[in-house]
Amino acid sequence: MSAQFPVARPRRLRRDPALRRMVAGTRLHAADLILPMFAKEGITEPQPVASMPGVYQHTRDSLRKAAHDAAEAGVGGVILFGIPAVKDARGSAADDPDGVLQVALRDVAAEVGDSIVVMADTCLDEFTDNGHCGILTPSGDVDNDLTLERYASIAVAQVEAGSQVVAPSGMMDGQVGAIRSALDAAGHGGVPILAYSAKYASAFFGPFRDAAECAPQFGDRSTHQQDPAGPLREALREVRLDLAEGADMVMVKPALAYLDVIAQFRAEVDVPVAAYQVSGEYAMVEAAAANGWVDRERMIMESLVAIKRAGADMILTYWATEVARRL
Ligand code: PBG
Repeated sequence: MSAQFPVARPRRLRRDPALRRMVAGTRLHAADLILPMFAKEGITEPQPVASMPGVYQHTRDSLRKAAHDAAEAGVGGVILFGIPAVKDARGSAADDPDGVLQVALRDVAAEVGDSIVVMADTCLDEFTDNGHCGILTPSGDVDNDLTLERYASIAVAQVEAGSQVVAPSGMMDGQVGAIRSALDAAGHGGVPILAYSAKYASAFFGPFRDAAECAPQFGDRSTHQQDPAGPLREALREVRLDLAEGADMVMVKPALAYLDVIAQFRAEVDVPVAAYQVSGEYAMVEAAAANGWVDRERMIMESLVAIKRAGADMILTYWATEVARRL
């Protein structure tokens, strides 16, 4: 390869590990990672989630220990989900000050203090007996505005139990505004909202529904979660509405199949963008690795780097503690 003009040789920068390390534009940091955790009421031993090897439904003790380990590893935050012993149509346990999630928030906040951020998923599907994310109409649809009243009350209960951030995930119209007003009215104007802004009706949530025991008993979530085939501008509309309603941070979910949405959000909004590497993304890698078909560690790191490179500032991942230790 001789030429009259200098030849561009991108390989020059790939010659050795030190050079590659120096020029790598994408770096993961432990503080970017957020660990989702499941608190289950009424169990005496942590329960392994069959479809998510390495993930547990926690007892109060094991939850505190997992939060402690996450903090020690330097993760940025944890986000808690609660699985109540008793479920009903209105998800009464969700805003009960002694409900499983509020107990878990108090325990974890006491355990980690303010060393990492303690967050709560604000939704109803883990708490309703029908597995839906809200209050149902007689015909079985989710009633948007009745559900907003529940979300507002749940968010206040979560903050009063020690949640430093609330993360509404139900995809009801107006949920960020309803929660913002309720928090402000209750004297919690300083508590940020992490909005699940673009959340798709995704098959990648499958294993989560075992973990959180929240599979819909009939129907699905496609009247409120976004259609995977929907245009990018629909995601942008959702995020603009959330920002107008007062969202402080926004999220895309799932992550790996929606890198285009993450990149668009990064380009369009001026708040932190989070991406949720969901249960199905976790299960795919763990299952393939258990069969010896892929290099588990490399797949984990590559997927996280890809999500970061697409534009995510933070990543919710069930591997948060493990990866934070490795960084
Ligand atoms: C709703 C919620 C879900 C997930 C996070 N919040 C489930 C759903 O919308 O069906 C999924 C997370 C995952 O798959 O890891 N509370």
